[in-house]
Amino acid sequence: MKGLFVTFEGIEGAGKSTQAKELYNYLKEQNPKVALTREPGGTDTGKKIREILLTPTEEVFPSLAELFLYEADRVLHVENKIKPLLEKGYIVISDRYIDSTLAYQGYARNIDKEVVKYLNKLATDNLTPDITFLIDIPVEEGLKRIREERGFDRIEQEDIDFHKKLREGFLKIAQEEKNRVVVIDGLNSPQEISAKIIKIFESRFKEYL
Ligand code: TYD
Repeated sequence: MKGLFVTFEGIEGAGKSTQAKELYNYLKEQNPKVALTREPGGTDTGKKIREILLTPTEEVFPSLAELFLYEADRVLHVENKIKPLLEKGYIVISDRYIDSTLAYQGYARNIDKEVVKYLNKLATDNLTPDITFLIDIPVEEGLKRIREERGFDRIEQEDIDFHKKLREGFLKIAQEEKNRVVVIDGLNSPQEISAKIIKIFESRFKEYL
C-alpha cells in the first residue's frame, strides 16, 4: 500500500508535539510501518541546522536567512527520510512542515507569501501532506504554557504581535485548504484532543489500520 503523510502544525505551546506522539503511539499498535519525525531537525544535518536556527545570537538574523535554513532543512528531510519512508509504504507523521514556513516566515515575518509558497514547492518537490492537523489555541494560552514549562528560545522570544500574526496565518491557511487542514481546538484536554484526532484519522484512512 502507498504511504501516507500526516503533519501537525500550530503556534508555540499548542501541544502539537504531544499530539503527534499520541497519534504515532496509537497507530504503532496496529501498524508497524509508522514513523514520527519533525522539522526542523528530522535528519542528522537537519539537527545542526535546527541548532543554528534556535540558538539565541547577538547577530542580526534576517528573515531570509531563516527562510533559507528552514527550506534547506526541508530538502534534506524530504529526500533522506520522508520520501524513502513513503515509498516503503510507511505512515509518516511530521511535527511541523510547509505550513509552519508560510505562517512564521510568510505571515509573521512578512516575507512575500508567494515566494514562500514557491520555495515550499521547490524544497518538497511538491510533496503535500494527505492530512494536516492544526492544533489551535489563543496566543496568550500558548505563551503561558511555554513560560511555565521551560522558558523561551530565539523564535519564541518574539513579541505578542508576532505570535498573533502567526496564529491568524495558520487559520488562514486552514481556510484556504479546507480539504487538507483540519483545525483542532487545543484548549480541550490532551486526551480529548487525541481521541478526536484518532477518530478523524480512522474515518478518512480506515485502510491504514
Ligand atoms: P518546534 O520544534 O516546534 O519547537 P519546539 O520544539 O520548541 O516546540 O519548532 C522550532 C521553531 O521553528 C518554532 O519556533 C517554529 C519555527 N519554525 C519556523 O519558523 N519555520 C518553519 O518552517 C519551521 C518548520 C519551524
